[in-house]
Amino acid sequence: MAKIVIQEKIKAFNKVIKVDGDKSLSIRSLLIGSQSYGVCKIKNLPKSEDILSTIEGLKKLGIKIYFKNKICFLHGNGLNGFNYKKNITINAGNSGTFARLLLGLLIKSPHEIKLIGDRSLSKRDFQRITDPLKKFGAVFKPKNQRNLPLKILGTEFLKPIDYLEKKGSAQVKSSIILAALNTPGKTLINAKKSRNHTELFLKYLKAPIKIIVKKKYDIIEIIGENQFKSFNYEIPGDMSSSAFFIVLTLLSKNSKLKIKNVNVNPTRTGFIKIINKMGANIKFINKRNVFGEQLADICVNSQKNFKPINCPVELNSNAIDEFLIIFLLASKAKGTSTFKNLGELNKKESPRLKIGSKILNKMNIKTVYTNSSIKIYGNPNLKVNKKISISNYYQDHRVCMMTVIASLVFGGKWTINDANCYKSSFPSFLRLINKIGCNFKYSK
Ligand code: S3P
Repeated sequence: MAKIVIQEKIKAFNKVIKVDGDKSLSIRSLLIGSQSYGVCKIKNLPKSEDILSTIEGLKKLGIKIYFKNKICFLHGNGLNGFNYKKNITINAGNSGTFARLLLGLLIKSPHEIKLIGDRSLSKRDFQRITDPLKKFGAVFKPKNQRNLPLKILGTEFLKPIDYLEKKGSAQVKSSIILAALNTPGKTLINAKKSRNHTELFLKYLKAPIKIIVKKKYDIIEIIGENQFKSFNYEIPGDMSSSAFFIVLTLLSKNSKLKIKNVNVNPTRTGFIKIINKMGANIKFINKRNVFGEQLADICVNSQKNFKPINCPVELNSNAIDEFLIIFLLASKAKGTSTFKNLGELNKKESPRLKIGSKILNKMNIKTVYTNSSIKIYGNPNLKVNKKISISNYYQDHRVCMMTVIASLVFGGKWTINDANCYKSSFPSFLRLINKIGCNFKYSK
């Protein structure tokens, strides 16, 4: 069981870094590539565990994938071009995105395919995916199963659907979009706003997708069974990984950081809006559009004072993976911060609202939390002077990284158990922590 021990605060730094490639775009490039026709070349694909699970899963489905000079080559077999043996099992590991999006691509499969995952993924809700996919005609076994493991059997007789997605879940929306690619006719999704990478990717490939942007919902129209060609793509840096280093810099003394080449798609920058409202001054420079996505370099300076926030709920979905790290900033703010309508946060790799609250309590920060909200009573003079041990957090990568940042900025003597899990999304995390000058002990 890997362990990280941190007993020293970070010293002032001034660095330029690059974080690993974006998890959402990496998984989408592989899944969409598998349905394209021809050879895709994907650069800067991270070797994180979620991406390795995606590659292994696609290989089992008959997709040829290999790396040459760090570039990923993927041979797309076209729509519904999977080619596999009977009775296969696909292990999605820890990746909700891979598991949920993949099911969308399996709705035409002639044989049953079993989908399994690790302990954390096996506890997560899959009914949000099986409900819409059943409407297309797919069959799931056991009947009414809400979690993994489950089996999917597709059908030749798919029907397009008209679906209202009310959770603001990009995974649900994307699974339906991918299912629509293999379904004859027009699928319509009325989706509460969430990250829009799948739509932008398909638009960039000139697949027949139409997006009508409304205030709170987007209407997405896909005409299925239209083949698109293979592509070359370069994965930009991940905003969700950058978030840990942004808060590390904000809460350090006399420090400066530039993070190069990050995806700053507005559906991913809710975090920046929230922390800027709390008094941060994050700047994007070198803004550019690449492959239909917005990219920039992010500049951040350390800062002394932070305001509490009554977090606008309309930013929740666009900051959903960053709340744990936002909670650390709220711990240092002068006053009480409130975050509401966050029930979805308890449905991630771990129940993050609950676990985040427990970690703040260990740092002597008072919280009041319910199933869907949290109040954080910030302390601008926060210093941790005790031993803290972190365990039993479902090996959630973001909990692990949040606690590393907390120890480096607030002090104390921390032991973080089950520490290998940061590799799910951000394999370079500890290397970068080391690069900016932090002292820690890592043992396997
Ligand atoms: C993701 C969507 C989000 C997010 C997850 C990645 C995606 O989940 O939490 O880490 O790539 O579509 P939901 O769509 O379930 O909110």
